[in-house]
Amino acid sequence: MGFVGRALEIANMVKICCIGAGYVGGPTMAVIALKCPSIEVVVVDISASRIAAWNGDQLPIYEPGLDDVVKQCRGKNLFFSTNVEVHVAEADIIFVSVNTPTKTRGLGAGKAADLTYWESAARMIADVSRSDKIVVEKSTVPVKTAEAIEKILTHNSKGVNYQILSNPEFLAEGTAIQDLFTPDRVLIGGRETPEGRRAVQTLKDVYAHWVPEDRILTTNLWSAELSKLAANAFLAQRISSVNAISALCEATGANVSEVAFAVGKDSRIGPKFLNASVGFGGSCFQKDILNLVYICECNGLPEVANYWRQVIKINDYQKSRFVNRVVSSMFNTVSGKKIAVLGFAFKKDTGDTRETPAIDVCKGLLGDKASISIYDPQVTEEQIRRDLAMNKFDWDHPAHLQPTSPAAVKQVSVTWDAYAAAKGAHGVCILTEWDEFRELDYQMIYDNMQKPAFVFDGRNVVDAEKLRAIGFIVYSIGKPLDSWLKDMPAIA
Ligand SMILES: NC(=O)c1ccc[n+]([C@@H]2O[C@H](COP(=O)([O-])OP(=O)(O)OC[C@H]3O[C@@H](n4cnc5c(N)ncnc54)[C@H](O)[C@@H]3O)[C@@H](O)[C@H]2O)c1
Repeated sequence: MGFVGRALEIANMVKICCIGAGYVGGPTMAVIALKCPSIEVVVVDISASRIAAWNGDQLPIYEPGLDDVVKQCRGKNLFFSTNVEVHVAEADIIFVSVNTPTKTRGLGAGKAADLTYWESAARMIADVSRSDKIVVEKSTVPVKTAEAIEKILTHNSKGVNYQILSNPEFLAEGTAIQDLFTPDRVLIGGRETPEGRRAVQTLKDVYAHWVPEDRILTTNLWSAELSKLAANAFLAQRISSVNAISALCEATGANVSEVAFAVGKDSRIGPKFLNASVGFGGSCFQKDILNLVYICECNGLPEVANYWRQVIKINDYQKSRFVNRVVSSMFNTVSGKKIAVLGFAFKKDTGDTRETPAIDVCKGLLGDKASISIYDPQVTEEQIRRDLAMNKFDWDHPAHLQPTSPAAVKQVSVTWDAYAAAKGAHGVCILTEWDEFRELDYQMIYDNMQKPAFVFDGRNVVDAEKLRAIGFIVYSIGKPLDSWLKDMPAIA
């Protein structure tokens, strides 16, 4: 039995350290701590403000149920610290959950994963380790990253033995705690050597505290790494597929909800991830597909690369199609008009705005000189302004590692409720499916808007017929068009 396996058996407190206290590191480690009271979990980060927030009352990320989990174990067997090196040195198992953004410059810019944060974490592990370690890739990484990490570690090993595992995270923001409590599967990839298999078993033992054995899958390293990229590509592909059909629905008078329902009834297809919308967002889908595309190109598979690239193209098409609908419906100009934007997060129940379609839609409207007024229940004004001032891909480099003072975006105001955002507006764009947007008093909103008053529902959350009865002109993605819109060309 190897060192770590033995340690697990004999030590009272196995020590886990997670590098990166973000959307993945924070919630996953909190749940491990909750479910494994005999394991000490320390989450470390170079961002002092993030760690302070994890130790305070207002956690740095919003996720239903997270507060509760953190409060139950913080200070007992769950700790947050900036003392990265000390805790890495003491740990038996090190999760690396740093960000892996798309490269913004150099070779592979705009496609390849930027492993700067990963590599510096690996070098630091090599520097400070004096005892054997299991190093777990939690971040989503290109296939064969484990090999690169292994090289960094073993070339600087000073006699320390390392086992690298791939344990990609499949949680979805907004339902992270539920996903972690009852995952569809936990995937662990490792080397197919006796030491590799023991390391896999050690990590399996951690998850086995609460995950049924048949849901813990073990594979070789490369299969685990590729499975994560493939899973995200498949999920995003479903959204792009239904969004592509939504454009055809609008052109033909079909209703995308009815089509998606009928299609999803086929048990081979299933009903999930078939909601047409203004487009997918989030930190992962686009980044991971671009990464997949790059890996295909590097492996001489241009046809495969082009196939997946199309998923992103349709997503971009959907966002610009939406902006064009807004502009063309309003007599082909929104210059000087007030447009209310309801929802800025990339989906409901999260404050995360990374790659949210709202950014592209707002930039599109600002490009046409609209003045926009934004409301989101979870996103701060500072975040919105930073997002709108940022270049594509810069968003995934942590704010504390970026130059400060982003240029203020004029023509943008941020309000604390939907009614203030819509007051005096010509049009309302719904860009996140927050439940509260279903329940708004649309009569009151209508009464306080310029006429004709428009609602552009990018998430199909409102009852279009009810709103039409009030007097709104309504555009719902993929639904039969209002007669007003039929006469307005909207070519993306
Ligand atoms: N967000 C999701 O829903 C999700 C889901 C599954 C997988 N992933 C993957 O997980 C990884 C992390 O994603 P995230 O959303 O948690 O990112 P994040 O940006 O929220 O968190 C990453 C953290 O790592 C810290 N960090 C970077 N370099 C460091 C270093 N050398 N030492 C210590 N801390 C360092 C940063 O300060 C940041 O706080 C990514 O690879 C992502 O693709 C994300």
